[in-house]
Amino acid sequence: MASWDEAPAERQEFDRARLLAALDALRELPEIEGLRSGLADLQAALGRGSFLAVAELPSEARVALRPGVLRAELCQVSEAYTLERARHYLRRLRGGIARPHSGAVNDINLARWKEYDQVLTDSLWLIEKRDTSGAHLGHYWGNFVPQIPHQLLLRYTKRGDWVLDAFAGSGTTLIECRRVGRHCLGVELNPAVAAEARTLVESEANPRGVVTDLLVGDSRAADIEVALARHGAEKAQLLLLHPPYYDIIRFSTDERDLSNAASCEDFLRLFGEVVEHVTPFLEAGRYCALVIGDKYGKGEWLPLGFHCMNEVLRRGYTLKSIVVKNFEQTRAKRNQEELWRYRALVGGFYVFKHEYIMIFQKT
Ligand SMILES: C[S@@+](CC[C@H](N)C(=O)[O-])C[C@H]1O[C@@H](n2cnc3c(N)ncnc32)[C@H](O)[C@@H]1O
Repeated sequence: MASWDEAPAERQEFDRARLLAALDALRELPEIEGLRSGLADLQAALGRGSFLAVAELPSEARVALRPGVLRAELCQVSEAYTLERARHYLRRLRGGIARPHSGAVNDINLARWKEYDQVLTDSLWLIEKRDTSGAHLGHYWGNFVPQIPHQLLLRYTKRGDWVLDAFAGSGTTLIECRRVGRHCLGVELNPAVAAEARTLVESEANPRGVVTDLLVGDSRAADIEVALARHGAEKAQLLLLHPPYYDIIRFSTDERDLSNAASCEDFLRLFGEVVEHVTPFLEAGRYCALVIGDKYGKGEWLPLGFHCMNEVLRRGYTLKSIVVKNFEQTRAKRNQEELWRYRALVGGFYVFKHEYIMIFQKT
């Protein structure tokens, strides 16, 4: 089954057949009192670890569950007023254990959707602290927090899928792919940045043996077909776009670098060319995520996010969501909070505290 193991410490593997047999036996009981006392016995047995999978049990005979959620579900059964209601809850619980029902583009077992509370579904992401564990150093100026690719991988990919990151930078997506068990091809223009990213990605454990490859080149022209074919793949199942936010940070002196665009129009043209070039490598029906912020300059708010969104929409996508994510100080603005507040009061604008994660589906 497609197991959920993003928080392995919280999950335990149970002997599926034994657990189902115990639930079935409870459903056969003719009286609610008997059922409740049987449930208490089952809870106690679970507490003793009686239903845990033994080492030699094959993987298809195991089911990974969050014990806390299972306990809550058993409590719900025992609190049911009628035998019919208790049996209904037992039947539902049984269904989620016997027949995992995976999402179309992810490994979320929808039959047990309550166990996935770490997967965000709201359009406001308040991420207070960057994940700095493992190879996530967070040193690269202009990187995104690892929680962004993490959430996108959980929602929009299955184990073993391919992810294409057209602006790989310091390799945040590649590192996260190793953790979650997705293959990843990144493209990065700056050879020095790519070399550093490779070292970093290699320092991250790769427990599921996925491929994480980084191509040095311009995302408007890079030979993605050959790079994927080298690993026996043709298409990616998730496309990630985290371009420069126009010229807010100049990433290099390379004229092909989007951050060196001569004007906002030029930036959008270059970005559009990237979307045009990489889109054929995304499987139809699958998702693309654009991570972007706006810019303020010469007394005017430049809605880069919405301009870039339109560039994507022009190329065969439908918009699925606009997520707003909180955005704390950039390094440039760190320690300048008061000055920015003063400027905002004088200039009639608001200080940036958010960026966008826009989700599209390839039609
Ligand atoms: C916003 S950063 C991406 C950061 C990345 N998500 C991370 O967490 O490190 C944008 C990256 O795009 C790269 N870049 C700019 N123009 C490019 C192009 N034409 N092709 C490929 N990469 C490009 C820059 O060198 C920079 O590393």
